[in-house]
Amino acid sequence: MCQFKNINSMSFAEYKELIEHGDTAIIFLGHDSMFPVSIQQGGQTQTKYGVIRHSSDLIGKKYGSKVTCSKGGWVYILYPTPELWTMNLPHRTQILYSTDISIITMMLELKPGSVVCESGTGSGSLSHAIIRTVAPTGHLYTVEFHQQRAEKAMEEFQQHKVSHLVTVKNQDVCKEGFGVSDIADAVFLDIPSPWEAIRHAKSALKSEDQHLVNFLLLRRLMVVESALSHPALSKSREHA
Ligand SMILES: C[S@@+](CC[C@H](N)C(=O)[O-])C[C@H]1O[C@@H](n2cnc3c(N)ncnc32)[C@H](O)[C@@H]1O
Repeated sequence: MCQFKNINSMSFAEYKELIEHGDTAIIFLGHDSMFPVSIQQGGQTQTKYGVIRHSSDLIGKKYGSKVTCSKGGWVYILYPTPELWTMNLPHRTQILYSTDISIITMMLELKPGSVVCESGTGSGSLSHAIIRTVAPTGHLYTVEFHQQRAEKAMEEFQQHKVSHLVTVKNQDVCKEGFGVSDIADAVFLDIPSPWEAIRHAKSALKSEDQHLVNFLLLRRLMVVESALSHPALSKSREHA
């Protein structure tokens, strides 16, 4: 659940009322046309309706405001929820969308305080949603073996003021696992060969009542025989 705040720090895990310098905001022109901007004193953003001047048009206004651009057209300035981020993020990989994310969140029974392991981080679409759900006391451990993707994800988590809720590890989850043991309430795998990470999922999970879902099973309904017959699964509940 989002907290309502009048503070000067925007976070994807909370909500605040007023637009300020340093925020990431969503410029909404329509359902099929929106994009994120970093709000800067003196900054400006070009749209098809003309320029938006950050200092005079945005800073100090309420999120959700209708703002008139220099050519007379108008846009809405929206607070950046994980759902809006999923629709607007820079794609570095294929991503999970909100319909699947809501099912994953339900199947993993995520809630504030949950500790979650996922791999790969990819473009961070699922990661942002998990972080918002487990905040303020939970944590996400996310593993990505592509160095630039891992670095970019860390950068975005910092910009979005959620870096205290997430640990990014740049390593191969199939070889080195999640870097934690006996700590996770849930594990989610969105990698090409999830069966190779099952033993690491087992070691990351708390010993009882945990959840393991992998995207291949969830979405494509593929029966990954080697994974299903793996002894590690006897310790987890399979939801596919
Ligand atoms: C489909 S993308 C994940 C998308 C992510 N769920 C999202 O919603 O943005 C798969 C990612 O897994 C990473 N990956 C694949 N195999 C991996 C492995 N063995 N260890 C760590 N990362 C891996 C890839 O580099 C890629 O970034």
